[in-house]
Amino acid sequence: MALTYQQAKLVRDTVPALREHGERISSIFYKTMLRDNPELHNYFNTVNQKNGRQPRALTTVILAFASNINHISELIPKLERMCNKHCSLGIKPEQYEIVGRYLMQAFAEVLGAAWTPNVAAAWDKAYWVLAKMLIGREAQLYKEFGPGWTGWRKFKIDRIAPETDDIISFYLVPRDGRLPLPKFLPGQYVSVQVQVPEEGHLQSRQYSLSDAYNSGDCYRITVKRDEGAQYRNSVSTSYFHPGIVSNILINHMRVGSLLDVSHPAGEFYLDTNSSNSSVPLVLISAGVGVTPMVSIANTVLATQPARQISWVHVSRRVIPFQDHVAQLGRRYPETFRTHTFKTRPAAGTSEDHTYDCIGRMDLSKLNGEQDLFLSHSGTEYYICGPEQFMVDMGTYLRGQGVPGSRIKCELFSTGDLAFIK
Ligand SMILES: Cc1cc2nc3c(=O)[nH]c(=O)nc-3n(C[C@H](O)[C@H](O)[C@H](O)COP(=O)(O)OP(=O)(O)OC[C@H]3O[C@@H](n4cnc5c(N)ncnc54)[C@H](O)[C@@H]3O)c2cc1C
Ligand code: HEM
Repeated sequence: MALTYQQAKLVRDTVPALREHGERISSIFYKTMLRDNPELHNYFNTVNQKNGRQPRALTTVILAFASNINHISELIPKLERMCNKHCSLGIKPEQYEIVGRYLMQAFAEVLGAAWTPNVAAAWDKAYWVLAKMLIGREAQLYKEFGPGWTGWRKFKIDRIAPETDDIISFYLVPRDGRLPLPKFLPGQYVSVQVQVPEEGHLQSRQYSLSDAYNSGDCYRITVKRDEGAQYRNSVSTSYFHPGIVSNILINHMRVGSLLDVSHPAGEFYLDTNSSNSSVPLVLISAGVGVTPMVSIANTVLATQPARQISWVHVSRRVIPFQDHVAQLGRRYPETFRTHTFKTRPAAGTSEDHTYDCIGRMDLSKLNGEQDLFLSHSGTEYYICGPEQFMVDMGTYLRGQGVPGSRIKCELFSTGDLAFIK
């Protein structure tokens, strides 16, 4: 049932206080929920809990929802990312009850006396309006997955191929032998789940499918080893946290090893189903953000070789898929062009002709027409890289008059740029 005018007002009135105490709310919420329901550790990324990204992502959405309670339909497109993520992780409708209960308890604890029975009733209703929107969309996505594959499916690693020193491709075939594999749209990802002995539970991460859908006999993912970064704690000692799953995949998985893999999902894709569009594409990537771009480029060049693609990429030293991309350039000289930046090319290699510019990616250095197709009113821009990189690229393009609707971004972590911006 919809909220009454008075209930909507009660919800909106609590937003400033909840916004101010968002971090406290979300940390209480996750701490108590995971303490009382330890099996949920298998679903949540432990690092996103520790660094606060997931609690922040959840409260940001809840508060955006509450602030826009009178025109929630505008939020619908922004829910796509989380619904896809939820389905990729096998989240079930009944789990919304648990999340709602612990979230309301955390709100109550933080708001104290302001959490009157009327406010609590209004928030409970608001939560369920949102939850039902998500549950409904997720039911649709699960239906699209089809009956044969929801949850985890065992895949065998058929082949392992290094792309650079620290970026490795895995070719995955289903252990059950049922082929062809479901189609996916270029840009989409799968989740991969592994047992993490030190944590005592399972951990899942997403990996973009890094090739076009071919005959459906295998999927390819391409994983960068996350070496971790240096952090300072309160007494100024620094230490490293190597990434959990990428290191398990790269260090321990061999040809023949089994992996749990989810059905392809994701809202960052080139829609090859419903449009025969031939507008130019500009693919802008940094580092391992190259993976969905390889899938998009391979798909388009195989099916619409006359379509213009410009690929702009930045890497530190070695460009992943460099040979493959160079080959595409030679094969489709009329339609496929590239421009690459390196921030730290190896010293003393003047004969290194694998890049065009030294330094960080700067779109203003490119030819606005040939590289970015700025004057074409339909050009679509696909961006993947670190969060700030994508914000910077998006800002530049919007500054050149490109509407946000033609710019798509893929964030390789938790949180939604649609809400962050
Ligand atoms: C849609 C999507 C697609 C993706 N596609 C790809 C892809 O194609 N290829 C790819 O390589 N990756 C991809 N990723 C990223 C991938 O899912 C993982 O996030 C990545 O592999 C790192 O996972 P990990 O388990 O190794 O690192 P994690 O264990 O998750 O650690 C991540 C980082 O957090 C740091 N950290 C650890 N502990 C803390 C702490 N307490 N506080 C602060 N920071 C901490 C670590 O040092 C590390 O740098 C994608 C992500 C998404 C969401
Ligand atoms: C109204 C309720 C909910 C909201 C608003 C919500 C919101 C979100 C958001 C914003 C994200 C981050 C998506 C991204 O990567 O950008 C997310 C991820 C996630 N959600 Fe939900 N969610 C809700 C319900 C649930 C439920 C019921 C579960 C089941 C336990 C759940 C489990 C997860 C998990 C496991 C992730 C991935 C976390 C990670 O990778 O760190 N969520 N959710």
